[in-house]
Amino acid sequence: MPRILSGIQPTGRFHWGNYFGAIRQYIDLQDKPETAFYFIADLHALTTVRTPAELRGYTLDAALDLLALGLDPNRASLFLQSDVPEVAQLCWLLLSGTPMGLLERCVSYKDKKARGLRADAGLFTYPVLMAADILIYDSDIVPVGEDQVQHIEVARDLAGSFNHEFGETFVLPKEKILDSSARVPGIDGQKMSKSYGNTLAVFEDPKALRKQIMRIVTDSRLPEQSKPPEGDHLFELYSLFGSDEQCQTLAATYRRGGFGYGDVKKSLADLAVEFFAAARQRREELVAHPERVREILGDGAATARKKAAEVLLRAQKACGIK
Ligand code: ADP
Ligand code: TRP
Repeated sequence: MPRILSGIQPTGRFHWGNYFGAIRQYIDLQDKPETAFYFIADLHALTTVRTPAELRGYTLDAALDLLALGLDPNRASLFLQSDVPEVAQLCWLLLSGTPMGLLERCVSYKDKKARGLRADAGLFTYPVLMAADILIYDSDIVPVGEDQVQHIEVARDLAGSFNHEFGETFVLPKEKILDSSARVPGIDGQKMSKSYGNTLAVFEDPKALRKQIMRIVTDSRLPEQSKPPEGDHLFELYSLFGSDEQCQTLAATYRRGGFGYGDVKKSLADLAVEFFAAARQRREELVAHPERVREILGDGAATARKKAAEVLLRAQKACGIK
């Protein structure tokens, strides 16, 4: 059985884009706790979240959200990146031998720097920590969004050169690019992203969510005018939740004209609240039982550490540390 591994950073509340673009697809791939590893990348988040209480809060929220949304501890191991200290050890073995130029070419570093984020060594070497995350579990398949593919290539490159220098040590991982048609627009029509402040959070309070949905930007077309549904971000958001039949009906209404955006927004809010209602219920149950969450993360980390210790030792021996 190939091992599937992915990580998600706890840098804010998960939004609809994170759910449809990533989380739901990871969850669909889970199978057995020994072969499906999912972790919360708190060490990576430290490159952007610099307030301790915030980082702790986002990390706990990420665990609660993932479990509530269907990550099943009987079919996957869920753990915190920082609960597997072997990853930081392997990161050092990989850093020695990583060409500076390779990291300078990494788009995410270049982008973050361009956005004015502090360019510290953590941010610069981010892809090496990510390579350690992947290689330490002999991961075969890494499901990620398009934006992370270059980082998987770095992991493969570093694994290849380590193997070449010190003998066969690491499994070469392959990316599985998540369905990019699941790109979710934000309330302003741009890609939904924390960085743009245009998100709708998965577990937003329903009343607040309705208000935010009413603020979705629309054009100034008159109610009687017709409008092509294609490319309309309100229609796209509706399509995330509506059944085929509901979407076809709305598409026909758009083309016919004689409707107001306000009504579409109300229907969207109803559908979204209903869609996440069961997950919200599960989340409340988990919040009431924090010991259960701690136990799940502890079990996940134990399973992950067992594998990590084995691969770390293999790498240490190969390069002459043990
Ligand atoms: P953000 O852009 O809000 O900071 P992240 O970069 O932390 O989100 O993304 C985490 C995961 O969610 C990634 O796999 C990314 O591809 C996916 N994702 C983020 N925003 C969207 C979106 N609007 N549509 C689809 N997938 C998204
Ligand atoms: N960098 C990834 C992101 O921002 C998160 C991540 C960290 C990751 N380590 C990983 C993803 C290892 C896959 C495998 O989305």
